[in-house]
Amino acid sequence: MRAFRYEHIGPELTLYPIVCMHLGAPQSDEAFIKEHIQRIADDPTGRWVYLGDGGECATKLSKGDVYRQKYSPGEQINRAEELLEPIRGKGLFGVTGNHDRRIYKETGVDFAEQLCKGLGIFYFGNAAMARFVIRPEEGRRDVLEYDTFWHHGKDSSSMTPGKVGAAQALVPLADADAFFSAHSHLCLDLAPEYVAFLPPRAVQVQYRKVHNFICGCAYDSRVPGYAEEKAYKPIIPAYLSVTLCGDVSNHEGTANERKRIESKIYRADGRPWWEEAA
Ligand SMILES: [Fe+2]
Repeated sequence: MRAFRYEHIGPELTLYPIVCMHLGAPQSDEAFIKEHIQRIADDPTGRWVYLGDGGECATKLSKGDVYRQKYSPGEQINRAEELLEPIRGKGLFGVTGNHDRRIYKETGVDFAEQLCKGLGIFYFGNAAMARFVIRPEEGRRDVLEYDTFWHHGKDSSSMTPGKVGAAQALVPLADADAFFSAHSHLCLDLAPEYVAFLPPRAVQVQYRKVHNFICGCAYDSRVPGYAEEKAYKPIIPAYLSVTLCGDVSNHEGTANERKRIESKIYRADGRPWWEEAA
């Protein structure tokens, strides 16, 4: 697994995982994607990470409907570059997804790698750990360090408990403050888990908080296709952002206690799906 380190000077840094755009699929809601990209462009402390499934990547031999796909896999990369142009320079790194892997399996060309090259971000393969160092002001030494784990996500069932379980199954893989995965198309900030630990020289047990984010999709499964065929409950596009706060007020607690992670969810509820995504 690859490591990444990013230092930010300022009171907070907001991360926007971009995942499951499924460009080329009739269900890919480009209006929703554009809206989210504008949100990132408007956020001076916003940075994004590519978490896989940027393109639908249906081929003659893969799963998915190659006949209804709007763009070829090559055009899907071009479209991603066009859409993300307003936030070029705010991207950090990317990992692959199961749809990206369809192209590699048949051709040996790593779709996610080509996409990340086009977007001008590092490419880390299947998973990455990233440390974000938040320094509240230039010259301050009281930095907070947030360790994060990034993976497209495990296969899961079509039912919500299975999707939540797939995200929770990543937690034993890494020692991190926050886990980011997707694949199930849910958008959720799960209740944090608390892990007990003994700090050096401590006489008292302390607790580390572990956040777990399921990062959503821009795939509107109300648009007829795979979900309808399988009688899955429709999932509506939604993305989230996660803010890592530098601490400026409370110097009482340990670094672990002073860390603060906050999320926001942006749902495409109430949008007329037949115009936007079809
Ligand atoms: Fe996926």
